[in-house]
Amino acid sequence: MRVIKPLLLALGFGLSATALAATQIQLDSSTQGAVINKNIYGQFAEHLGRGIYEGIWVGPDSKIANTKGWRNDVLAALKDLQVPLVRWPGGCFADEYHWRDGIGPHKQRPVKVNTNWGGVEEDNAVGTHEFFELVEMLGAEAYVNGNLGTGTPQEMAEWLEYMTAEGKSSLAELRRKNGRDKPFKVHYFAVGNEAWGCGGNMTPEYYTNLYKHYTTFLKAPANNTPKWIASGGHSEDTSWAEYLTANVKQKMDAVSFHYYTLPTGQWDVKGAALQFPESDWISTMHRTLAMDGFITNNKVVMDKHDPEKKVGFYVDEWGTWYDVEKGDNPGFLYQQNSLRDAIVAALNFNIFHKHADRVHMTNIAQMVNVLQAMILTDKEKMLLTPTYHAFKMYVPFQDATALPLKLSNVPDYKLGEVSIPAVSATAAKAKDGHVYLALVNANPNKAETAEINLAGISINTVSGQLLTADAMDAHNTFAKPEAIKPKAFSAKGENGKLSLELPAKSILVVKVQ
Ligand code: AHR
Repeated sequence: MRVIKPLLLALGFGLSATALAATQIQLDSSTQGAVINKNIYGQFAEHLGRGIYEGIWVGPDSKIANTKGWRNDVLAALKDLQVPLVRWPGGCFADEYHWRDGIGPHKQRPVKVNTNWGGVEEDNAVGTHEFFELVEMLGAEAYVNGNLGTGTPQEMAEWLEYMTAEGKSSLAELRRKNGRDKPFKVHYFAVGNEAWGCGGNMTPEYYTNLYKHYTTFLKAPANNTPKWIASGGHSEDTSWAEYLTANVKQKMDAVSFHYYTLPTGQWDVKGAALQFPESDWISTMHRTLAMDGFITNNKVVMDKHDPEKKVGFYVDEWGTWYDVEKGDNPGFLYQQNSLRDAIVAALNFNIFHKHADRVHMTNIAQMVNVLQAMILTDKEKMLLTPTYHAFKMYVPFQDATALPLKLSNVPDYKLGEVSIPAVSATAAKAKDGHVYLALVNANPNKAETAEINLAGISINTVSGQLLTADAMDAHNTFAKPEAIKPKAFSAKGENGKLSLELPAKSILVVKVQ
């Protein structure tokens, strides 16, 4: 740098020292951005640990203030987040869930064992009617995951009929007897979950045959037909998306995909949620950024068989997965959530926006008290995690139109053998007519400068929110629930352009005016 700068100045390039060091961000006019489906900000609520029971559902008789059994504090926080969609009842749980266990008077519902998650009793207090009460109160869309693993085509077809039938069929009448006259609106329906693993250890070929078999019998009224989701692959495996798109030509609106970020990449020792070394920070970021390649590779195989992009690629499970803390039930997957998780979320959002032409839905795992949660609860107490704040900051991107960006001169953040680009960015024109920019500095040690030139879009001022903290594992506790939260941010442009300083380990989301 010391040598290059005087040389450039001598050659007449009027570049300042910051310009040389700064990430350059420009609109990429060579490509068209897609609409960022609001469901990219979808949630996932499984019957797992305290994800539903205690986390959101406390029952109508609880001392914790609730509406129809759903706790008011958590509901209010989720409404503020503008949750667009909730996936339920699993996950692995879905493939052992029998919907008839979850309807009718609560006292008559059978108690089962949740064999996937801690072997605890599942009293079926939350079933179909309760789930729809939740999504209706949130104003969210419903994503119901059917049981392929231990169910039958008949059971699955009857569940869909129970939820959607309008006439006098015995299942519609049973729904009415259980208190619901109008059909429920089922926006999305998935046939099984992780068919390659907990959903039945199948091959893509076997699952594809079953998918066609089951969907033949799944019927719903024309005005209430869900989008059909096939259970797809995970991580670097593209064979599921490839085989499904090559062989299923009807009743398949999307193929799902799962990818979790483990700091070490190993399932036996994943890494700690807090008090981790910097090597875990960078490996977490590095493994998160792998999502971009996984989506790209799946898009390549899908484009071969579905060039018109009719079939979506839904990342319906993603997020961080750490070691369970000592003393916690290992089957409950409860983990703390720090600034690192918020950065992971923002990096993923930026990747999903880039692929919004195929990625129309994603579901972070999971909404409350499980894995990378938005909200943690301890009996009557509740806190919002840094991941919650990242989701809230990105709300303007829901249903916005992506404005592809070209980043150049991006500095590397390096530690040992691992190196990642320090700066990531996304932009979109939102429904309110304004352009929004989101920038992430993944370097925990060094502030970065970004120089932004949006060509035809003049930048006079920007205002929004900045999320950062001193510690890599800054987090909220029940004693200090607001230890980390976003702060107001504003800056002025110069000659229609903008130079921004991004603090170390930060997320910045601003509206351009
Ligand atoms: O989100 C936790 C579990 O992770 C889900 O039940 C399963 O689908 C995945 O393996």
